[in-house]
Amino acid sequence: MLLTDKIALITGAARGIGKQIALAYAREGANIAFTDLALTEEAQATCDEIAALGVKVQFYASNAADFEEAHKVVEKVVADFGRLDILVNNAGITRDTLLMRMTEQQWDQVIQVNLKSAFNFTHAVTPVMMRQRTGSIISLSSIVGINGNAGQANYAASKAGIIALTKSAAKELGSRNIRVNAIAPGFIVTDMTKKLGEETLKSFVSMIPMRRGGEPEEVAKVALFLASELSSYVSGQVIQVNGAMA
Ligand code: NAI
Repeated sequence: MLLTDKIALITGAARGIGKQIALAYAREGANIAFTDLALTEEAQATCDEIAALGVKVQFYASNAADFEEAHKVVEKVVADFGRLDILVNNAGITRDTLLMRMTEQQWDQVIQVNLKSAFNFTHAVTPVMMRQRTGSIISLSSIVGINGNAGQANYAASKAGIIALTKSAAKELGSRNIRVNAIAPGFIVTDMTKKLGEETLKSFVSMIPMRRGGEPEEVAKVALFLASELSSYVSGQVIQVNGAMA
């Protein structure tokens, strides 16, 4: 077991990649705190699946983009679990459109949910992990945060920001034995990408050397590596999980 008795907090984990990360951690013995916007049936089902693995699990309804709420969640997690070893900044949205059609609201929403949320939670866990002198912070970036993408200027900017936040935090927190890394997935089959439609999906897959989209479980395996002692000297890195998509 790679994460026995560790406490992990994962944002936006009711479904998709976040859910698979939560399950992968729980299978390795971690107790799980996770957030999403509301306790939906989906979130409850995730809770039940994690609990069935025999670890402690607690759901917190919270908007990750809200600074105060993020701090309250972290306070509650520490009160409920006693400590916090792993943070995964996973909550994210898309509001895709070409730049010239993009509204101010579409820009602001994506930056706040994708980038500010990662700041909010990183800021909130930092004093806790500094006191513990250990911690692993992992944030979900994206291949488009590295390459850019037409129709996703807001999303790409938010994901590039995640990389800069990650590298800066790794430099600030390294002396306290806190590691900070990012994962940049390529095209992963989740609700977020399913809404692109059959034709767009096909054209994406044709650009991937491995000729398929990735599964959320395949991102979760990298998140497990980064959370565990297997990556004890890995910090400030961006690991791409993209089937060789350039
Ligand atoms: P998803 O849409 O399936 O799941 C995202 C989850 O975040 C949902 O449960 C949603 O309710 C939650 N969420 C949204 N806004 C929130 C907020 N303000 N506060 C709390 N929770 C919120 O998406 P998916 O595909 O699982 O993506 C997870 C992360 O991975 C995101 O950050 C996404 O940008 C990133 N990613 C996904 C890729 C893909 O191909 N699916 C590729 C690259 C990165």
